[in-house]
Amino acid sequence: MDSGKQLTGTLAVAVFTAALGSLQYGYSLGVINAPQKVIENNYARALGVWSERAAVLSENGTAEEGEIPEAGKHPDVIMYWSLSVAIFSIGGMLSSFLVGFVGDLKGRVKGMLMCNVLAIAAGLLMGLCKMWKPHIMVIAGRAVMGFYCGLTSGLVPMYIGEIAPKAYRGALGTLHQLAIVIGILISQVIGLDFVLGNDDMWPLLLGLSGAPAVLQSMLLPLCPESPRYLYIQLGKDKEAKKSLYRLKGQYDATSDLEEMRREKDQADREPRISILSLIRSSVYRKQLFVALMMHLSQQLSGINAIFYYSTAIFARAGVAQPVYATIGVGVINTIFTMVSVALVDKAGRRTLTLVGLGGMCCCAIAMTVGLRFQNDYSWMSYVSMSAIFLFVSFFEIGPGPIPWFIVAELFSQGPRPAAIALAGCCNWTSNFIIGMTFPYIQAWLDCYVFILFAVLLLGFTVFIYFRVPETKGKSFEEIAAVFRKGRKTQAQIPKENTEMQQLKTSTDA
Ligand code: GLC
Repeated sequence: MDSGKQLTGTLAVAVFTAALGSLQYGYSLGVINAPQKVIENNYARALGVWSERAAVLSENGTAEEGEIPEAGKHPDVIMYWSLSVAIFSIGGMLSSFLVGFVGDLKGRVKGMLMCNVLAIAAGLLMGLCKMWKPHIMVIAGRAVMGFYCGLTSGLVPMYIGEIAPKAYRGALGTLHQLAIVIGILISQVIGLDFVLGNDDMWPLLLGLSGAPAVLQSMLLPLCPESPRYLYIQLGKDKEAKKSLYRLKGQYDATSDLEEMRREKDQADREPRISILSLIRSSVYRKQLFVALMMHLSQQLSGINAIFYYSTAIFARAGVAQPVYATIGVGVINTIFTMVSVALVDKAGRRTLTLVGLGGMCCCAIAMTVGLRFQNDYSWMSYVSMSAIFLFVSFFEIGPGPIPWFIVAELFSQGPRPAAIALAGCCNWTSNFIIGMTFPYIQAWLDCYVFILFAVLLLGFTVFIYFRVPETKGKSFEEIAAVFRKGRKTQAQIPKENTEMQQLKTSTDA
């Protein structure tokens, strides 16, 4: 059988298990939105800043709609609430730097297993928050959960990228994003007030974000370690072979082993590279630039402006039941990620990213037209709404999933962990910046806010057209060769060789 084409039960279990980490990430991203008012009320109560009347109304359960939410306007509550939201990204920004270290310490599988301690601790802090000061417990829980998600958003694509057969690397890599969007959708649905997003159940809603970690911890011991890690990093060829057979069934592993051997030779020449040496090295500059731009294009496309503020945006566009429209976005999001899973190994990464970013650019313009003229023509709210749905669809066919796994494809084993760490940090930081600044930019640009994203999207589309090669169906070696090609003018070769030597000496020392 073709050694690049096997899909076995063990591979399916391994990918499913890893993707539970991504599910948890998606859930944590989405869970905080729906129950905002309920949580603010609880913070106000714990901080003692509620008016007597609000407290009595709440105790009796006689509050009319809109009567209590004043709690959210108190400066202390605003401060604790904003911190509960933002601390998640800060945790992720910090830990994404450690992805390489954790992945290499005991391997990818044990790395994910160790991280689960964080997720379970975070779930308990939030789930039991009513036992002490809820605002402090939730902030602590969100910080730890963010730290966990920063690690998982790097470890999962790294593991999947390393165990996936070449022919399915895109589809399996996209499952990371599919699990994220399913996590977001689940949190949107069970966050509705008649499910768990109410005064009694909200700690459980937040605490459940630790649940997938429990299941993942039970399944990880069944997952084979990455053969690339075993062979290239540790030189354990027998164990690597065993792992390959478990992942791919009994097959002729010669060509896979040969490919790994060549990669190992290469890795021995260009040893493990730290984040700092990767930034400094001119050898990987092109790949690194492409990796960072892919992540920037994902975040600066404005997708999270839609996710974090969709309910408000729909309300502005004149939609009667904005919460349900938001869930509609979650559903569309999931459906189009599935489309991407089906297409990515056929159409290719480059094409899907270009179509996605170009389509999002047109939708951002349509959203602006819709918002600008909604008071003049009532049907304009349909234009805005359709534009939002299409914007999300275009995002999910390419710009959403591809950056997460393409970094593992762009780099060989030596620099891969450092590159994933840097790209992850870039993703988390830009996500944080958009989350924090969007309300201000919106207040400033008003109905023209999406023009800003349209301009950025156009810029990224042009960049990808000129600078990003196709990686579909290529071995890691072939991809590295694409970047080497065109870089090596005669003048550069001696300089690069010296640089490689310096990198090696500094790591050997
Ligand atoms: C990607 C992004 C994330 C976003 C999600 C939406 O995973 O990294 O920030 O919220 O897609 O589907």
